[in-house]
Amino acid sequence: MRATLPPGPRTPTLVQTIGWWSRPTAYVERLRDRYGKRFTMRLLGQPPFVVLSDPADLREVFTAPPEVLHPGEGARLLEPIVGAHSVILLDEGPHLEQRRLMLPAFHGERMQRLTGLMAELTERELDAWPVGQPVQLHGRLQALTLEIILRAVFGLDEGARLDRLRDRLTAILSFGESPVSLLPQAQRLLSGRGRFGRFERDRAAVDRELYALMDERRRDPGDRDDVLAMLLAATREDGSPMRDEEIRDELLTALVAGHETTASSLAFAFEQLARAPHVQERLAADEDGRYLEATIDEVLRLRPVLPNAEPRLVKEDVTIGGHTYPAGTILILAAALVHTDPDIYPAPHAFRPERFLDAKPGTYTWIPFGGGRRRCLGASFALLEMRLVLAAAAERFTVHAVGPPERTRRRMITITPGDGARVRLARRERAATTSADVEAALVTP
Ligand code: HEM
Repeated sequence: MRATLPPGPRTPTLVQTIGWWSRPTAYVERLRDRYGKRFTMRLLGQPPFVVLSDPADLREVFTAPPEVLHPGEGARLLEPIVGAHSVILLDEGPHLEQRRLMLPAFHGERMQRLTGLMAELTERELDAWPVGQPVQLHGRLQALTLEIILRAVFGLDEGARLDRLRDRLTAILSFGESPVSLLPQAQRLLSGRGRFGRFERDRAAVDRELYALMDERRRDPGDRDDVLAMLLAATREDGSPMRDEEIRDELLTALVAGHETTASSLAFAFEQLARAPHVQERLAADEDGRYLEATIDEVLRLRPVLPNAEPRLVKEDVTIGGHTYPAGTILILAAALVHTDPDIYPAPHAFRPERFLDAKPGTYTWIPFGGGRRRCLGASFALLEMRLVLAAAAERFTVHAVGPPERTRRRMITITPGDGARVRLARRERAATTSADVEAALVTP
């Protein structure tokens, strides 16, 4: 069959690149309105990007054989931080092997054991939130999600090592936020110098700490529920364990993939709640956790912090929805477009948790965590964390807007509320439920 890319804008490549980069959701929505649910974009220095948002196309992409589409190759830029063994950078056999090793550690039931730790860290953070004055919650939520990952995933206990790693890892993450930092050319040219040198030293220090930690845990595993404990215990089909470098890379992967994403999703939740007092009231009165669940589903629909799943690089010509995409094309699965498709969601820009009360989100119409064999490994972890934080906050506070609805802003690969989720908190008079009730309702996945 002849390769025919779907139509798309003819504006200069530079204009398309700026639109894509600076207005990640509004720009593609406009293109969708004009060209339909699949269109082709031309970005500077990139192969053609075909943006897909028809659920039937998404299903075909998510279920395509692993040798046909390579999401891992497209994420190479992250390698200086996450390392070459990271599940996110691999494809085909090596990807499957790494993912099999990690799956039990992130399994939903396994996550329940982290509830107590997550709840404790959440309570401690919420105790420090100021009441009665404007506060930007995004920064606070970043600190909280970082702490939760370091304790529940890296398995760090409170103490000097946690403090040292927190500082070094924060520096590494902020280095990765600058667009030039991760360019291979810049890495090569500037290695050892200035902020690049600092980054390399931080990374070496982190690696030393993590290898020492793994060494201690291998000698004395103890009875622990953290993800590190599971990775140390994981075995391949031939019975061999994961190597320390693999575990190091997967811990860093969880940090990069799970820290900012969860913080921004929560920030959007508060930003939306501040403008929806009736939703807050229903949340505070929610006894079985169903409304909370629906609220989270709706936040992730309306504001998918990764507006696209990992780009899929076409390795062999593939036909999807009647179009044949030649090798070298990149397929973009646009969560932000599926989630605002009026054919799927009436009044798509309205924040209405009720839409998910009786209808569970669909596999190909609700894709904040991507899908298929690449679906987010941390989805259960992130959802548990979001439930705990939002339930604890609803019990304590009412949230009030202090400005107009916030525009979305791109921060590298995620989108965040443009004003940092600036709200005012007031103390809630009467506790709707006790923490024990909330926790009991939360342990049902
Ligand atoms: C609300 C928070 C989060 C969102 C919205 C999110 C979203 C995503 C998305 C869209 C993908 C790509 C899926 C695809 O291309 O099909 C992904 C992959 C991944 N995420 Fe998450 N994520 C979140 C939290 C986390 C957390 C907390 C962790 C770990 C603790 C995590 C670990 C991963 C990993 C390891 C992958 C790569 C999976 C693979 O390539 O096989 N994520 N995530």
